Formats: sequence, structure tokens, C-alpha cells
Amino acid sequence: MNFNIHMGNPGLYKILKWKTGELIMNAKILNRRTFLEKGLVATVTLGISYLSPYFALAQSPAKKETDLFKQVNLARDPDNLQGLELGHVPQIKAPDSIKPGVPFEVEVRVGKKLHEMIPAHYIDWVDLYADDIFLAKFILTPNFTQPICKVLVTVNNSATLRAIEHCNLHGLWEGTKSIKVI
Ligand SMILES: [Fe+2]
Repeated sequence: MNFNIHMGNPGLYKILKWKTGELIMNAKILNRRTFLEKGLVATVTLGISYLSPYFALAQSPAKKETDLFKQVNLARDPDNLQGLELGHVPQIKAPDSIKPGVPFEVEVRVGKKLHEMIPAHYIDWVDLYADDIFLAKFILTPNFTQPICKVLVTVNNSATLRAIEHCNLHGLWEGTKSIKVI
């Protein structure tokens, strides 16, 4: 705005003053509208952020099966795995017969259909026993490992190898295999 113009021309000054007032009013309306719009966007964003875990749970095909955490789950029929058993019952690979004191390899694989290892659903550990003798523990990390664990074992007596795994959503599962010392 040119000061000299409005001092020398009162009519123009009035027009400019009126126009300035209109501009200020428009700016206020704009600010109010912008404020309301931004507020609405922020409210919707916050609401979505707050509720997203519930949406994720509702949409996720995998949810925590609390009943499975009440016991160690076993296959109803180890030769005919069904449903969750397919991805959870540990499969033990080891020789049927071994010599006393001679190390042999034991491989534990979680699931006949290998269990997934993503942050939302994964196997976090696997324990291995010979009868009630603790042999090994494997701690696993999703994204970076697969639930296939190998270890060399030495036993002196025939035993049942027992592998117990823990799934973050489906609890504890046990698989077994008998070995004979000859
Ligand atoms: Fe699972």
C-alpha cells in the first residue's frame, strides 16, 4: 500500500481500508477453515492410529489361541497331522539306533509344514530332551532364522527324544522320536 496515495486521496483511502478489512476478514475465515480442516485431519489421523491395533487384530488371520497355552499340545495322530498340528508339532530327525557314547546328529524342524517366522507369528524357542534329561535350548528370532535346529547329542541308553517348541500365538507343542542304543 502506498501511503502517499491514501493521504492525497480520501476516497481511495476508504476503498483501500475497506479492501484491507475484507482481506483481514477473508484471512480470518481462511484461518478458521484451515484450522477446522487441519483439526479434522488430525482427529481422524489420531483416531486411526489409536484404533489401528484393533483393526490389525480384526483383519489378522492369526490371533492368540489362549486355550493352547494351558498345556503342552500333542498330535492326536502323529502319522496324520491335522490343522495347527501341521505347522507346530516338532519333527525330529535322528538315527533309529545309535552306539553308546557316540555323538549323533539330531535335527528338530518345527512343523511338517515349516512354521512361519514373521514378527507377528513365530517360534521363539525349541527345547530338546532325552526322556527327562535336558539336552539343548534354541532361541530363535523372526525374520532372521528358520525353525530348524541341529545339535550333536551323546546318550548311553535308549531313550525317547522329546522336542518342545513355543509359538507366540499357539503355545507349546511336543514331538517325539524313540532311539535305541545297540
Ligand atoms: Fe503358530
